Amino acid sequence: MPRSKIAGIGMYVPKNVVTNQDLTQYMDTNDEWIQERTGIKERHYAHRTEETTTTMAVEAAKIAIERAGTTAQDIDFIVFATLSPDYYFPGCGVLLQRALKMKEIGALDVRNQCSGFLYALSVADQFIKTGMYKNILVVGSEKHSFGLDLTTRGRNISVIFGDGSGAVVLQPTEEDDRGILSTHLHSDGGSAEILAMYNPGTHANHWGTQDYADFDDAPIANMFMSHAMIDHAQNFPYMDGQLVFKKAIIKFPEVIMEALQANGYQASDIKMLIPHQANLRISQFVQHTLKLSDNQVYNNIQQYGNTTAASVPIALCEAWEKGMIKNGDLVCLAAFGSGFTWASALIKW
Ligand code: ACO
Repeated sequence: MPRSKIAGIGMYVPKNVVTNQDLTQYMDTNDEWIQERTGIKERHYAHRTEETTTTMAVEAAKIAIERAGTTAQDIDFIVFATLSPDYYFPGCGVLLQRALKMKEIGALDVRNQCSGFLYALSVADQFIKTGMYKNILVVGSEKHSFGLDLTTRGRNISVIFGDGSGAVVLQPTEEDDRGILSTHLHSDGGSAEILAMYNPGTHANHWGTQDYADFDDAPIANMFMSHAMIDHAQNFPYMDGQLVFKKAIIKFPEVIMEALQANGYQASDIKMLIPHQANLRISQFVQHTLKLSDNQVYNNIQQYGNTTAASVPIALCEAWEKGMIKNGDLVCLAAFGSGFTWASALIKW
């Protein structure tokens, strides 16, 4: 059975850099708080109307496709991970297929938030291993800036997120000891409401997530997205940051160790760990737990914030472009986020 290899990788971030100081125009926050709690110094925000989650993905995908030595017409499947799609439906996969003038190939959208790229990679890996496809485009892309509560009310969430896109092309390889060695996927829906955006949605307060009675008398057609939801700021994401933090620092090391043990490696064998860029303190905690050196862990949250599904491919691309990942290196990707879902992938580059 062939393995999948990452044949090409690309990334794109919008030009507009938003510093912590810039955010003080909108909310009561400050550079010291944001840097101390998250490590973030700045993030990039997409152009309001000229850039979308898909247009950013197009830029990252073009680079990945070229580096893979192939063309958009040769891609035979798309897996697109995002939590900030251009439309509620259809998904971004078909918009990417259209924008890149690809053949009438399959396009699958993945909704697994921060671990979305790893779920997407795992799905693509299975298709390559079975021989069904030969050139799969896997994308993580986010335009968070459009959906954040940029007021003091939303500051605990809004300061964290940034926009951007990352893409890889997976191809089969018969080379021994090269490619994706394994992927590991997990979920625990018990904490689904801890980090979530409840609306628009069909829950009709069934799970008791909202604290007003709008659903009781609303005409059914208005329950998906109502004026009251907007009046109550319930069209923004919700997060209990401390609970997420506590769970993340347990699940990150666990899923990394799972990948290592499945392949007979230990933490010291990792050449580069690319953790989802959720919070610099989470990455440092994971590094400490696994006794990894600074050179073994790649962090770029300082410049980009948390770009959710895009964060792992952006960090992987940057580390590779800087020459920090070379052929034969053992690379571990890991993510944890909303759902909760978490995942890892071990790759021999
Ligand atoms: N600026 C200034 N003060 C702030 C800000 C801000 N931007 N945000 C919150 N505060 C204040 C709070 O109001 C609170 O004040 P109080 O003590 O007077 O009540 C104080 O700072 C502490 O707030 P906490 O929320 O307890 O701060 P914490 O240390 O937990 O840091 C953070 C918050 C950064 C969000 C952290 O909890 C975290 O990173 N959690 C994990 C996030 C994560 O990994 N998410 C998963 C990925 S996202 C996804 O999947 C979509």
